[in-house]
Amino acid sequence: MTCISQDGNYSMGDHTLSVPRHLYKLNQERLCKSLNKIPELTDSDVYVLLQGGTPLSHYSTDIEYDFRQEPYFLWTFGVCEPGCYGLLQVSTGNVHLFFPKIPEEHYVWMGVPLDIEEYKKRYQVKNISYVETLLETLELLKPSVILTLKGQNSDSGLTCQEVHFDGIDRFTVNNKILYKTISECRVIKTEYEKEVMRYATKVTCNAHKSVMAKCKPGLFEYQCEANFLHYVYFVGGCRHVGYNNICCSGLNGAVLHYGHATEPNSKLILDGDMCLFDMGATYCGYTADVTVSFPANGKFTEDQRAIYNAVLASNLAVMKAIKPGVCWVEMHTLANKVLLKGLRDIKILQGDVDEMYEAGLGAVFQPHGLGHLLGLDVHDVGGYLDGCPERPTMPGLKALRMARKLEAGMAITIEPGCYFIKPVLDRALKNDDLAKFFNTEVLERFRQFGGVRIEDNVFVTEDGVENYTPVPRTVEEIEEWMSKKEATV
Ligand code: GLY
Ligand code: MN
Ligand code: MN
Repeated sequence: MTCISQDGNYSMGDHTLSVPRHLYKLNQERLCKSLNKIPELTDSDVYVLLQGGTPLSHYSTDIEYDFRQEPYFLWTFGVCEPGCYGLLQVSTGNVHLFFPKIPEEHYVWMGVPLDIEEYKKRYQVKNISYVETLLETLELLKPSVILTLKGQNSDSGLTCQEVHFDGIDRFTVNNKILYKTISECRVIKTEYEKEVMRYATKVTCNAHKSVMAKCKPGLFEYQCEANFLHYVYFVGGCRHVGYNNICCSGLNGAVLHYGHATEPNSKLILDGDMCLFDMGATYCGYTADVTVSFPANGKFTEDQRAIYNAVLASNLAVMKAIKPGVCWVEMHTLANKVLLKGLRDIKILQGDVDEMYEAGLGAVFQPHGLGHLLGLDVHDVGGYLDGCPERPTMPGLKALRMARKLEAGMAITIEPGCYFIKPVLDRALKNDDLAKFFNTEVLERFRQFGGVRIEDNVFVTEDGVENYTPVPRTVEEIEEWMSKKEATV
């Protein structure tokens, strides 16, 4: 029994979500519909040709590391295996899939591969053959134009690997259209995709709850990470996570993407530490991205409560203001201003909140963007496509991963934070335009605080948001949850 049943649905067992194959059929239909509207493509027999991911290995070993499918290929064809090609006829929606032929000497390592008939059942596609027939298939189909994927990702700066095979130069290829069109389709989630994302996020939230219930001073951060990973895989069938697990305690909470090779979640958690755990499970390729912040010993101090509530107020203000048509940059500004007001109430800051914001103080305490599109990629595609508003230049705003207006169907994170980052604070205190807002005596009390981030996953709906992130969020909910010593999920 494999994870994909013979009728094509993706499932990791009856206790997990069964994802219908139709998810990909609908993605294909949406892509074809968008392409059919492009004037320069009408009256021609257009095909989309995508190449899937290739297995990863290091030169010094023949080990194939855990394979992740290339996301555009996955979105379009829903195929798990490496080394494949997929062809989609835009006028009819017909699909051809091409799988690599596994040499017989590999059977002993990989098992006997599926044959063509088995692939047809698994993927519910009639036209399946081996990669070596790609050229002859195209010569028979005679496309008037082949659309290929070429574009630069606005988060990584990397350019995607354009499809290649020997003989592609015999065809008319256009690489100018597909990237924007397919990325735009990926921005708006279908009901099928939402169902998968709700599932990945529910598993993630339950895992966070389980981690919180088991967390105590004396554990290492990586032991909390281990509890998370065990839960999402064992309970939820989620083999992968969407990004490096960020499990900070104490001062490490001020390191936005902590958990990297130099500091692999390796600190001992101490009594009095705040924990900031940012982890998200992936199911059927779609990822969650959830951050919880809580005191390691289960009881907030007055200062921890004050900072936490300032960040929560910022999160809730955005949650309330979101609806289609609202500009994401304005949401970031709103989040910053609510946070600055909270810090003024705590007396870390003094003065006029609008003036603080104009001076750039928002970026001192929250040097990252308010959130980002979410989907197959944790920082999902579509933030700065051609024709979208450009990246702002102001401190803080320039970290935003999109500047678009919100649309119903978008999946985004809302993740305001407040961090006491030594080099950032030291630099701000040397700048007269910023230093005047600080009450340095009170600030000193928070120098060792670390940080708080509250990150929810939401869908933009017709009139607001659907927050599908069921974790304890208020101070009271967190303390109550953590007081149940045997709390289980
Ligand atoms: N986990 C990375 C982020 O929140 O964007
Ligand atoms: Mn996150
Ligand atoms: Mn995020």
